[in-house]
Amino acid sequence: MGLKKCGVVRGLSVVFFLFLFSITEGVRVGRPKIFNVVRYGAIPDGTTDNSKAFLEAWKDACEWKGRGRVYVPKGTFKLKSVLFLGPCEGQMAFVIKGILKAPTDMSFLASDSWINFRYVDQLSVSGGGSLDGEGSVAWPRNECKKNPNCQSLPTTMRFDFITNSKVHHVHSTNSKNNHFLLFGCSKMNITKIRISAPSDSPNTDGIKIGNSDNIDITNSIIGTGDDCISILSGSNDIYVSNVICGPGHGISIGSLGKYDKEDVSGITVRNCTFKDTTDGVRIKTWATSANVNAYNIHYEDIFMNEVGNPIIIDQQYCPVPPCDQRTSSGVQISNVTFKNIWGRSKSASAVTLRCSKTRPCKDIVLEDIHLKSSPKVGQIFSSCSNVYGFSYGYQSPRPCL
Ligand SMILES: *[C@@H]1O[C@H](CO)[C@@H](O)[C@H](O)[C@H]1NC(C)=O
Ligand SMILES: *[C@@H]1O[C@H](CO)[C@@H](O)[C@H](O)[C@H]1NC(C)=O
Ligand SMILES: *[C@@H]1O[C@H](CO)[C@@H](O)[C@H](O)[C@H]1NC(C)=O
Repeated sequence: MGLKKCGVVRGLSVVFFLFLFSITEGVRVGRPKIFNVVRYGAIPDGTTDNSKAFLEAWKDACEWKGRGRVYVPKGTFKLKSVLFLGPCEGQMAFVIKGILKAPTDMSFLASDSWINFRYVDQLSVSGGGSLDGEGSVAWPRNECKKNPNCQSLPTTMRFDFITNSKVHHVHSTNSKNNHFLLFGCSKMNITKIRISAPSDSPNTDGIKIGNSDNIDITNSIIGTGDDCISILSGSNDIYVSNVICGPGHGISIGSLGKYDKEDVSGITVRNCTFKDTTDGVRIKTWATSANVNAYNIHYEDIFMNEVGNPIIIDQQYCPVPPCDQRTSSGVQISNVTFKNIWGRSKSASAVTLRCSKTRPCKDIVLEDIHLKSSPKVGQIFSSCSNVYGFSYGYQSPRPCL
């Protein structure tokens, strides 16, 4: 009897504890309040413009003093250019279950971005849905190969000054310009995203990062007509792992030194696969460029599956010749490690380290390089100019360091 009573008391106290726990947790975290765009009048017929409904749903969610969740259900929602502006009162989520479709009219092509988040802390973008950039109408109008002052086309999703945030389970296809662009962001995790555009679509970079720090990109599949990931001026502590890149131009640092003049440092690219890309891991700076630094850069455990230039530092980068090559780059590259990189090269110069005459690369390390030539490519080699560093471990091609 004593034992039984004790059991009942214990059972009750467990229930009471759970009850207390659930209210305190409830107050602290709060259930998210859902702001469904359809409730704001959005129509998923693929043709009606829904920007007004989306902006109103965002505004209410942003003003909600708790966790606000903008919810886009299944269906195809056409959307014009939208700016989702913070700061918001609480944590924000933007959940996309359906498909968002970009405009195709010409007036839209002059905008800088399609979906833009700005000044938001603790934002999450997710849901498993997709962003269809409708890029095919814009690509023929991209004249940047001929005209350096070309009008740039809109980025699919742009993040400006976003902090402590994450993007996951989103699929972006056929952007008109970049798929994702991060500017002035800090502490963002991008994971399990997919990006796809044809290999010949111009300037469709996967993820472009500028003036940002502490950005993690993991477990993602990116195939585009330009860089899978491009890391620009003012970016520090960027970590990329488990990314499959291809087609595209690889994972790039730069181009540095021409437009913006801040250092790049603390870049790690690990456990990635490049498949049929024109370049693998690349650092590029313009020949005529400012005195900035790119340092503490580490590439490790990388599989090059039929890649044009698997390892390349190019300080005379010139995508649209002619460029002024009389001067040498002012970008100082130092402390760069290429470690455990294997696979096949589609160009004979499998390792190219072409550095600046006035500011030679320093502390460049090649460790365990196992590259072979693709069929029809002759003997592969490595070429170095103006580089200081060393190589150790297995080396194929024979190192020039
Ligand atoms: C990002 O991921 C890291 C490591 O998994 C984690 O510590 C951090 O809290 C995450 N940040 C956000 C904003 O989700
Ligand atoms: C490396 O990436 C592959 C996918 O490309 C993944 O399956 C594997 O688990 C990763 N390894 C580590 C150690 O993260
Ligand atoms: C070189 O860079 C790595 C990160 O890639 C860093 O851990 C290391 O401390 C740097 N070495 C020097 C001498 O700065």
